[in-house]
Amino acid sequence: MTAVLFTCAGQRVDIVSAFGRAGAVTVAVDVDPLAPALYHAHRHTLVPRVNDPGYLPRLRELVAEHDVALVVPLTDLDQELLAERRETLRTPVLLSPAPVVEAMADKYRAAAFLAERGIASPPTWLPAELPADPPFPLLVKARAGFGSRHIYRAHDRAELDFFLRYTPVDSMVQACCRGEEFSIDVLSDFEGRCLNAIPRTMIQSKGGESIKGMTIKDWELIDFARTVAEALPIWGPANVQCFREPGGGLEVTDVNPRFGGGFPLPLAAGSRYPELALALATGARPEPAVGDFREGVVMTRFFSDLCLLRDGDGALVPFAEELPRALAAKPGEA
Ligand SMILES: Nc1ncnc2c1ncn2[C@@H]1O[C@H](COP(=O)(O)OP(=O)(O)O)[C@@H](O)[C@H]1O
Ligand SMILES: [Mg+2]
Repeated sequence: MTAVLFTCAGQRVDIVSAFGRAGAVTVAVDVDPLAPALYHAHRHTLVPRVNDPGYLPRLRELVAEHDVALVVPLTDLDQELLAERRETLRTPVLLSPAPVVEAMADKYRAAAFLAERGIASPPTWLPAELPADPPFPLLVKARAGFGSRHIYRAHDRAELDFFLRYTPVDSMVQACCRGEEFSIDVLSDFEGRCLNAIPRTMIQSKGGESIKGMTIKDWELIDFARTVAEALPIWGPANVQCFREPGGGLEVTDVNPRFGGGFPLPLAAGSRYPELALALATGARPEPAVGDFREGVVMTRFFSDLCLLRDGDGALVPFAEELPRALAAKPGEA
């Protein structure tokens, strides 16, 4: 059995459970005892905050204690730390090289990093670099943004000046795309070979999370995402977001080097990303099968819940008659 350690597990019940179904022993950690994904793993532990000096040493202890074969960071929070210091964990981390993680974490640097590799993004400027007559509408966009936070649309100079003063975070200015937005979930091996790329439409998204979408076998998007993943390079998972502009060109607006928020959709479409990740953990070299997935699979998401109760030792344990599959303990048992 391969043990997989999920860091910043948070709400990623979908990912932890999918790895469990793929045969992994799942170990989930978070700083928050109310992180739902903790209770969907075979084992879970609370850990210090990401910025606590004890964080990495604690992860290293857990790697040894559970004989962890793969570490999978689930959010942006500890990505830079794990990418830079991955060797201290003494086991593979399913994460892109540090320079890629660092560049993608800053959308201004990301646009330049992509351009250096021949990949288009919408024209992007720092506020001080703006041309005299920029093409409105423009977006004032957080450089280190997430969840669609701090993105403001300016229709003219006055609105632009206002939003640049108004936004509380370090921002850049980006041309506004007018075409259709797509999201492509890729998985690459540790040599940067793209194993698959699965595009989906964004039927509806809320707060940056795609809540309704459909897989499409659009070869231009598939090839584009593979090109992006191999040019950066990506190691492990990434979510490539792009627009197809009226002239037909594809422009990248965001690359998240982790499993995307829409993970259940490529999974349902046959991505087998958990199985592939487990294969990578054991040093196997799975053959790329780019474009091998089912098209026309539609996802519609909903909130779910988990009720917990303190046991005799004061630890929170699931309290419910029926629990999702792949839960470690029986109801009421720790
Ligand atoms: N240049 C752009 N043109 C049009 N819409 C954009 C552009 N950049 C971002 N958006 C919209 O804002 C959403 C969030 O932006 P994104 O760059 O993905 O940041 P986040 O890190 O918050 O996900 C996108 O999914 C897209 O719908
Ligand atoms: Mg995004």
